Amino acid sequence: MDIMNTKVSYDITDAKLFLNHGYVIAIPTETVYGLAANCYNPKSVNQIYKLKNRPITNPLILHIGSTDMLNDIAAEIPSEALHLAKSFWPGPLTILLKKSSKIPDYLTGGRDTVAARIPQHAMTLELLNQLDYPLAAPSANPYNHISPTNAKRVYDYFENKIALVLDGGICEHGIESTIISFAKNVPELLRYGSISKESIEKELGSQLIDNTNYKETIAPGMSLKHYAPVTPLYITDDIHRFLVHFSDKRIGVLSFSKCIFKKRYPNEILSSKGSLEEAAKNLYEKLHLLDHLGLDFIVTCFVPDEGVGTSINDRLRRASSKFISFNKYIHEHPFAFG
Ligand code: TXA
Ligand code: MG
Repeated sequence: MDIMNTKVSYDITDAKLFLNHGYVIAIPTETVYGLAANCYNPKSVNQIYKLKNRPITNPLILHIGSTDMLNDIAAEIPSEALHLAKSFWPGPLTILLKKSSKIPDYLTGGRDTVAARIPQHAMTLELLNQLDYPLAAPSANPYNHISPTNAKRVYDYFENKIALVLDGGICEHGIESTIISFAKNVPELLRYGSISKESIEKELGSQLIDNTNYKETIAPGMSLKHYAPVTPLYITDDIHRFLVHFSDKRIGVLSFSKCIFKKRYPNEILSSKGSLEEAAKNLYEKLHLLDHLGLDFIVTCFVPDEGVGTSINDRLRRASSKFISFNKYIHEHPFAFG
């Protein structure tokens, strides 16, 4: 892989120039940073896969500047899909549709569907509106690592490997977009994300089929082990007892709203005011911070399972190695899905 000086810039003119020349750059979005390239340039897209070390069967989301662009990339747009696009775009909703013949197979892992969204980030929206192609952009992290929610984390992952990091500050939502598929007759939820399932159902006026536990067959990136820190992450129902039980270990605590054993253990708090939105925004950065302390474990608890809390819990499950329960008797089990 070419070594290059990675530039950090606030200037979309820089970004546009690199993209037009076929370079991969990092862009900010309201969810997480993305590794972006011209979706119609096979070499640039291939470079994204190489940089992430991601299997080429795992398709990329297209980022577009206007809903009109959907007509170009999708073969058909069901009215419910258009309704959701109009209600939530720009915003953290990814819509999966039957792809048009314009969309090359290398973007979709050979599937007949394409995923797209309009991100809600002023800088990136402006950039997209100046380009005459969509940007293919997965999250800007190596495969199975924690997604970055600020420019520094992207820089740390890809220093000297990408041309530019467009610095758009801290991502407002902090976890990835919600993915809804219209590939079948009824809308399906493929990935929990920044927009809660309830808000989408309210807008649709019907319940979504939940296909979030299906792994390789539907959304290949939704494999069980994902979004993970290098340090083993355990989830428990009693952090105090966990710490006593593993008193010989160096443990970092990720707690929702309260500090636990402040002096004895590194403790990151997701939201001291107990806001699930703030917790989502902080989740990946707090995991990054604890992951860099050289600990034996990180331990956490589930947050309230409502609204975006369900999406946070989904990410915690996928990032963790085990659930350890102190309820009645001590037992542990690895997570198993669907
Ligand atoms: O918030 C987000 O969506 C971020 C920002 C950068 O926009 N992007 C993101 O991309 O999370 P990525 O590649 O890390 O996750 C996209 C997920 C993957 O699980 C992928 O398999 C799935 O979407 N996906 C994309 N296109 C698909 C398709 N045609 N069929 C099934 N799954 C698809
Ligand atoms: Mg990702």
